[in-house]
Amino acid sequence: MDTVVTAAGGASRLVTAPPAGPGPADDRPVEIRTRRIRADEAMLLRALRLLALADAPWAFSGGLADEAAVPAQEWERRATDCATRDDDLVIFVTRFGTPSGLVRAYAPAAEPGRRELCAMWVAPWARGTGAADALVAEVIDWAGGVGADAVTLWVNEGNVGARRLYARHGFAVDGEPAGGELDGRRWQRMTLPLRAPGATSLLGAGEPGPDPRTRW
Ligand SMILES: CC(C)(COP(=O)(O)OP(=O)(O)OC[C@H]1O[C@@H](n2cnc3c(N)ncnc32)[C@H](O)[C@@H]1OP(=O)(O)O)[C@@H](O)C(=O)NCCC(=O)NCCS
Repeated sequence: MDTVVTAAGGASRLVTAPPAGPGPADDRPVEIRTRRIRADEAMLLRALRLLALADAPWAFSGGLADEAAVPAQEWERRATDCATRDDDLVIFVTRFGTPSGLVRAYAPAAEPGRRELCAMWVAPWARGTGAADALVAEVIDWAGGVGADAVTLWVNEGNVGARRLYARHGFAVDGEPAGGELDGRRWQRMTLPLRAPGATSLLGAGEPGPDPRTRW
């Protein structure tokens, strides 16, 4: 697989991979690109997030009905924050220019020195192309760039495909699975350390900033 990082039009990562899936053999490369959300892309963010929740509700702690009811103003705030802040981020992935997935990473209020990867989704038509790898790589690069100590995430215990994806990028199981009381789903935390254990945090420890991030 060839990976090219381009600077044109903002940071953008290009991955070309042989297409996967049934059908006649076809060795034309698939064009996969990742880039950070822009502040004016609230409705694209909403559309991809709702598609994700409709496609794989078992994979996410949030629900489709709740997210569908979020007002436009809040989506605009989310898009602006994720485009501009160093404690919140959304990356989109496109397949031949078509929006095909997203990932978010944010600084949890209780642990502002780390970044939590969440809302990870690749559309069925872009799976097996390297799109998921490109999204995870973007989050890791960004978290390292802002000085985070670690990237963490919570994955449905039975989500074997996602767990293998994260493990491939160096995430390791961190503690025992949690949850299960409400709907039987249990969540496994996985962590990728970015700095040596015990190293002084570049981001400071303890107190969250004046506008703490929340999970969505
Ligand atoms: C998880 C997701 C982002 C991965 O995207 P993808 O394009 O399928 O990723 P990959 O092609 O890298 O596949 C990931 C791994 O899962 C494996 N895999 C795929 N389907 C699988 C299955 N049903 N059972 C076991 N492993 C599976 C792949 O073989 C690959 O592992 P490998 O590279 O070690 O062989 C995508 O499937 C998705 O959006 N799923 C629904 C939402 C979701 O689960 N989000 C994650 C929330 S934490």
